[in-house]
Amino acid sequence: SNPERDRLLQAYEWTAKFYHFLLKNTEHGKAAMEYLRSRGFSDKMIDLFQIGYAPDRWDTLVQFLTKRSFDLGEMEKGGLLSVRSDGEDYLDRFRDRVMFPIYDRNGRVIAFAGRVLGDAQPKYLNSPESKLFNKSRILYNLHQAKPAIRKLRQIVLFEGYGDVISAWEAGVQNGVATMGTSLTESHTGLMKTMADEVVICYDGDRAGQAAAMKVIPLLEGIGLRVKVSVLNEGLDPDEFIHKYGQERFVRQIIDGAVSTTKFKLIYLKKNHILLEEEGKIAYTKEVLPIIAMLQSSTEREVYLRELSAELQLSFESLKQDCNEIRQSMQKNM
Ligand code: CTP
Ligand code: MN
Ligand code: MN
Ligand code: MN
Ligand code: MN
Repeated sequence: SNPERDRLLQAYEWTAKFYHFLLKNTEHGKAAMEYLRSRGFSDKMIDLFQIGYAPDRWDTLVQFLTKRSFDLGEMEKGGLLSVRSDGEDYLDRFRDRVMFPIYDRNGRVIAFAGRVLGDAQPKYLNSPESKLFNKSRILYNLHQAKPAIRKLRQIVLFEGYGDVISAWEAGVQNGVATMGTSLTESHTGLMKTMADEVVICYDGDRAGQAAAMKVIPLLEGIGLRVKVSVLNEGLDPDEFIHKYGQERFVRQIIDGAVSTTKFKLIYLKKNHILLEEEGKIAYTKEVLPIIAMLQSSTEREVYLRELSAELQLSFESLKQDCNEIRQSMQKNM
């Protein structure tokens, strides 16, 4: 046993309960509650994810922890408090933020992500890395998603907390998110122990779609099957759900997730004007190597036929180019 670690875990657990109480039952939490409601967070989800509020004061948590005889230095090292710039006193680390507790896979609170109520920066403030919390190993919501993941052998990977929460309410209970960091080997390794398939459901903006392109090889590289959700209009999953509804989200975005090859074709298409000859040729040059890499000739044919119809080019010429690329790839291997 490790008494310091146990004390820190106790402090995180009580702090999460305290912030949740302040949000729901006090005047301090009113504006935050209105903010959450305006974003479509239900009471049920606020309770299930134990969302809270850290008041706009310097010593709310300092007092709470002091009353419960915690060592403030220890709490500072553990990421719950900050030190005043003159080094003389301890302060609350999180102020005037909506608080999302971060749980380890056993359901213990080990960190927080705090969101500003408006547009100020930084939008999210995370707990610093600590004895308990290592961002590159944590998947948000894994403790609650585990049973569904094991049952379905599938994980839905989101970018954000709000996406995980709104998807959960829509019935997608195998969803997790990284904590604003890129996907690490320790994340993918963990995913591989629980699932055979991952649906990448990143934001529909450029950054999100580019990030999806980057994680595809990381997941496929360790033998996971991968599908990708295609979100339009720059919407993120949370925004899509509130705009188009839960049912359409599940049908179109989750069940309708496409193959990684299809996703790459859609992604690369955006860079080209297919009505112009140059655009058509440049796009073809980018996508033929992707199709040429596919092991199954049936699969290659499926995508080549689609391409042929879309670009109004003959299947034969596309196939011939594709085969040539394939041959030169095999020579180089
Ligand atoms: N993130 C972060 N710090 C930031 C911005 C983002 O840690 N300053 C992380 C958070 O985990 C966030 C995720 O990256 O959930 C995705 O970022 P973004 O799409 O910008 O945020 P949303 O999750 O959509 O947040 P919201 O809906 O609250 O605006
Ligand atoms: Mn509650
Ligand atoms: Mn984003
Ligand atoms: Mn987002
Ligand atoms: Mn969002």
